[in-house]
Amino acid sequence: MDVSPFAALLFVALLSLLLLFFRKGGSPSSGDGRRLPPSPPGLPLLGHLPLIGSLPHRKLQVMAAKHGPVMLLRLGRVPTVVASSAAAAQEVMKTHDLAFASRPRVRMAERLLSDYDMAFAPYGEHWRQSRRVSVLHLLSQRRVRSFRHIRQQEAAAMAGRVRRAGAAVNLNAVLISYTNGVISRAVFGDDGSYELDGGEKLAKLFGDFEELLGKATMGEFVPWLAWVDTLMGLEAKATRTSEEMGALLERIIADHRQRRRGSRREGDNHRDFVDVLLDVNEAEEHAGAGGGVPFDNEAIKAMILVMFAAATDTTYTTMVWAMAELINHPHEMRRVQHEIRAAVGVGGDRVTEEHLEKLRYLKLVIKETLRLHAPLPLLLPHETTEDTQLLGYRVPARTRVIINAWAIARDPATWERADEFVPERFAGDDLTTDYMSAQDFRFVPFGGGRRGCPGVAFAVPSMELALATMLYHFDWELPAGGASKLEMDEMNGLSVRLKATLHLVAKPWSP
Ligand code: HEM
Repeated sequence: MDVSPFAALLFVALLSLLLLFFRKGGSPSSGDGRRLPPSPPGLPLLGHLPLIGSLPHRKLQVMAAKHGPVMLLRLGRVPTVVASSAAAAQEVMKTHDLAFASRPRVRMAERLLSDYDMAFAPYGEHWRQSRRVSVLHLLSQRRVRSFRHIRQQEAAAMAGRVRRAGAAVNLNAVLISYTNGVISRAVFGDDGSYELDGGEKLAKLFGDFEELLGKATMGEFVPWLAWVDTLMGLEAKATRTSEEMGALLERIIADHRQRRRGSRREGDNHRDFVDVLLDVNEAEEHAGAGGGVPFDNEAIKAMILVMFAAATDTTYTTMVWAMAELINHPHEMRRVQHEIRAAVGVGGDRVTEEHLEKLRYLKLVIKETLRLHAPLPLLLPHETTEDTQLLGYRVPARTRVIINAWAIARDPATWERADEFVPERFAGDDLTTDYMSAQDFRFVPFGGGRRGCPGVAFAVPSMELALATMLYHFDWELPAGGASKLEMDEMNGLSVRLKATLHLVAKPWSP
């Protein structure tokens, strides 16, 4: 029987509505005199869950406009505070960063990732160790630079793919394949030898994995509705995917260990994340674990998975949004192409990473894209470690906290022409170093503070090089005879994507 979870949800919601009146909202006192954040009226049992819809960042924005920048919701049985202004974001990610630095338990993350996972780990020793290893060894500027040849090869291959496709190009497919290529080669040096048995492609396994990770399960919020998840086949699919993934990761690690035993070690410029993590593991074994958390096979597997999951969807989604905005803004498209073509010069035949620092307008385009279309519009959920406060309201320990980065980035109180694509708005910014660093809490697509994204330095050159390559070699148009503008509707998954597929006409350009 095919029962959608939303049908089940709707049924229960209607039943509750019929049987009971709306619970009154308001701003309940916490018992010690300090006030909890205001709470809109919600339904019995399900609370505010049915009110947040399939694109929660949008519904939450509307609710915040009515109830304020800090709201207390009940998602099923889970008390959840929503922060929807730059001032509230600053308190969460800077002023009271430590108190907000944990993560709630997320069912699908628990099923697919291990206790060692970093992105969904509660604040504590496991998380601290993984975070330290990732920042120090995997995502440093030096390591990111060492993958330059991978990005350049993959960008050149992508241009070749577009040329071979002829006039009509599915740009989504092209960009996802570039992103998968860059990330899987950086993470485990994929050279095509990890195709799975039965001809099933690696990309399909990772696709399933990401799709599942992006699914909010019913049981997490309303335990007595957990059967809906089973009925939907989510549990079975999670078990299957997790087993396949586990076997693949074992194979990848065993191959790397064997290669290290058998032959000379690769130079630093050709080592992938698995090589680096095995170094950390060996160094630790030599030194003796010292009572800390051991960085063993399980920790390495968790790290590979989390890097893949955190990096792929976000990077690819941002590039699709950037191309979509440029298609709808021909003036900005011409300006960025002019910049790239002038920088590469008449003698050049392709964009390299040396050109990137000259591409200031491209950086503005990416920044503006992330302002309007943060791929994780609600970041990842945070959880309080202790009783704390937010804009004067009391927030109890173990409360789930959502930061609506999307609403903050479109707040008309702090942005002019908030809903329009205007890359020039960032023209005065210093973009020479890490141009995404979160000092400005009106713009937090990467989060900030202790739990902020550690992968910015990895993401930025990957996106800049791919977009510059596509914009240098081709002129892009919508197919003749169709709509004159792209619909910019959204679709929710692991990240929030453009709903339409980018089928575009690519006209080769040469100097
Ligand atoms: C456009 C690209 C990307 C965007 C927009 C993005 C955004 C984010 C956001 C919003 C968070 C959660 C922050 C919070 O909860 O406060 C996050 C966490 C994370 N990101 Fe990224 N990310 C991107 C690319 C990457 C890449 C390329 C990597 C790794 C190679 C990466 C690794 C991670 C990890 C490991 C975490 C978890 C951090 C923790 O919980 O301590 N991300 N990212």
